[in-house]
Amino acid sequence: MLKQVLEKITPSRQELEKEMRKAEEIRQKILHMKGKHLEVVLAGSLARNTHLKGDRDIDLFVMFHKNLGRKEFQEEGLRIGKRVFAGHKWEKAFTEHPYIRGEIDGYEVEIVPTYKVEEAEKLQSAVDRSPFHSKYLQGKLGEEQKDSVRLLKKFLKNIKAYGADARASSIPGYAVELIILKYGDFEVSLKEISSWEKGEVIDIENYWEREKARKKFCAPLIMVDPTDKNRNVSAALSEHQMNRIIAATRAFLKKPSRAFFFGKKEKTMSYKKAKQAMKKTELLALGFSYPKAVADIVWGQTRRLARKIANALMEQEFNVLRAQEWTDEKNHCVIVFELEAIQLEKAMKRFGPLVTNKSASENFLKAHKRVFSGPRIEQGRWVLEIERKYPNAKKYLEEYASKLASEEKGALRKALKKRKIMMEKELLEMFKKNAEFREFFSCFLKGKEEFLEY
Ligand code: CTP
Ligand code: MG
Repeated sequence: MLKQVLEKITPSRQELEKEMRKAEEIRQKILHMKGKHLEVVLAGSLARNTHLKGDRDIDLFVMFHKNLGRKEFQEEGLRIGKRVFAGHKWEKAFTEHPYIRGEIDGYEVEIVPTYKVEEAEKLQSAVDRSPFHSKYLQGKLGEEQKDSVRLLKKFLKNIKAYGADARASSIPGYAVELIILKYGDFEVSLKEISSWEKGEVIDIENYWEREKARKKFCAPLIMVDPTDKNRNVSAALSEHQMNRIIAATRAFLKKPSRAFFFGKKEKTMSYKKAKQAMKKTELLALGFSYPKAVADIVWGQTRRLARKIANALMEQEFNVLRAQEWTDEKNHCVIVFELEAIQLEKAMKRFGPLVTNKSASENFLKAHKRVFSGPRIEQGRWVLEIERKYPNAKKYLEEYASKLASEEKGALRKALKKRKIMMEKELLEMFKKNAEFREFFSCFLKGKEEFLEY
């Protein structure tokens, strides 16, 4: 089966040649430009031939002398980047420093400025290290291991646990290569991953003692970069995602199937099914327009908002069972909350001190003048009920969202100006209209890890 999967996910020779030609063409173009750059290097998975078929990702690094001032370095990097894309679509993106990325003839091209230094440890940003990564892996990673890298990338991608962008809190490509290098091949890797523990350390070059590495990096998974012992390659991986990966490898080992790489065909529910499923839960959502910003940033922002709103709801005693963010990266953002109940009782119980505590009792009784019912004594304590300020979660979210809109800044603030609270009716409308939302919302309603059904 793995062989068949590989046929589907490995670029053909012609494709590879075409990609390499395109990369070389752009590289030459930059080399011939006037400017302060010294060299242009193809990096990333294309340079290492570990990319997935159809990914069409060209990462080019423009190198500057290490003595060039930070300001000039940035300006030159952006200038060259923009020149490359003259007549094409491009945008400014950020990792630790700004760079330009865009599209040329269907390829996603990134032009990343970097300092030319001898050791990766002297660098300041993650992407700068890529040429060092390529150099390190060269000759170490065999051809068959490259197949394994592709299999593991695709496996992770399919369960939405792959990539370096903030959206996924996942495992980046380079980390996948290191996993294969460490364990040997795809199947052994899955076995090893299936018994990973929190605080797992993968330190190929043995830079650290296990406990020291754990203390220093303090992350669910620690993969020490062989080219820089002070960097954890998998720093972005969240504990949640790590647990999902572990569970998925176990499911695969029990019952391997193609679905682990390509998913199941039927991903979305019918409208009728969705409507039925909604009857069983209490849902509330905040929809707003897509902020004018790079997708990575927007995902981070919506996730932060989701957490913030969930906390605010909890403070008002609405028990939030789940909160999840979604965006189509174009027009819409939606944060969905599953609550235990949208409507709470009118009254809110307040537990006071023990009756035997004289002074505390006096204070408690004095402090609460406007009571609904009580004070009375229950199991030795003063108890009273006061009026709940927000018995309805929708009402509360309306108020809270308008407060949020005035607190946030920039593009997000603007986007939040166009917002609506979504209940069953609005959610179903969106379900009907937007195919991407349909897929997300089907998953949400199901509330089950897809890979358990592969
Ligand atoms: N990189 C890194 N750490 C990150 C992001 C990127 O070290 N958090 C470096 C890696 O050397 C990586 C390169 O930047 O190879 C390009 O990043 P990206 O395109 O995200 O990953 P690829 O390895 O190219 O994998 P993919 O096949 O997904 O493109
Ligand atoms: Mg890449």
